[in-house]
Amino acid sequence: MNVGILGTGGMAAALGGAWTRAGHRVLIGGRNHERAKLTAESIGAAAHGSLEDAARHGDAVLVAVPAAAAPQLVSDLAGPLAGRTVIDCTNPIVATSDGLLLDEPMAGRLAAAAGGAHVVKAFNLCHVSIWTLHRPAFENVPLAVPYCADHPAAAAVTETLISSIGCTPAACGGLARAAYLEATAALAIGLWWSGGQPRAMFPPMGQVA
Ligand SMILES: NC(=O)c1ccc[n+]([C@@H]2O[C@H](COP(=O)([O-])OP(=O)(O)OC[C@H]3O[C@@H](n4cnc5c(N)ncnc54)[C@H](OP(=O)(O)O)[C@@H]3O)[C@@H](O)[C@H]2O)c1
Repeated sequence: MNVGILGTGGMAAALGGAWTRAGHRVLIGGRNHERAKLTAESIGAAAHGSLEDAARHGDAVLVAVPAAAAPQLVSDLAGPLAGRTVIDCTNPIVATSDGLLLDEPMAGRLAAAAGGAHVVKAFNLCHVSIWTLHRPAFENVPLAVPYCADHPAAAAVTETLISSIGCTPAACGGLARAAYLEATAALAIGLWWSGGQPRAMFPPMGQVA
């Protein structure tokens, strides 16, 4: 599959590297040509270019820029993104004295900003380091990757990208539920930072009466 990535930072390199190893043709797109080139070379990506090049390249396009920059960027690229699967991994989270809080939910904003694109929320829960692992699995269970999508074809594209890196897709409903994934990230990241173990909170199926 052709995958365009908007951004040249940690998530672009980690997920772009995983998809490149899985055989996808990844184009790293950045506003800084040299950084796009360096990131693409560091992961052996097929190509690099501008943000618009990435938008035009992808059957799927990953938005891997800070949440604060994402709506304007997606709006600017609405033309080239039309009809494509746009995967939003951003976490619109703000640190406060009361812990991490959610800013305005993002996925719906991106869907409105992009107009004709098929926005999917996915890959926002795990730290960047997890996506650098080969086929991430914990306690012998492949990592489940939850996603929210409205459009069936975009859901199928996302499932392919998740499965191809050895993870298990977990369909969590339509984009109206994407804010729950964002809220889950705010909660889990706070727990991880404080030394807690979010994984320990959920009993395995079969133990639930
Ligand atoms: N890091 C994590 O563990 C993690 C986990 C899950 C989700 N996320 C989400 O993933 C997204 C990317 O995180 P990251 O860790 O990869 O960030 P990062 O390493 O700081 O990279 C951010 C990228 O966004 C680009 N950028 C910033 N403002 C931009 C703008 N206005 N227009 C175009 N490009 C812009 C930067 O380009 P320049 O180099 O030119 O500034 C850089 O390439 C964030 O929304 C974050 O919430 C991160």
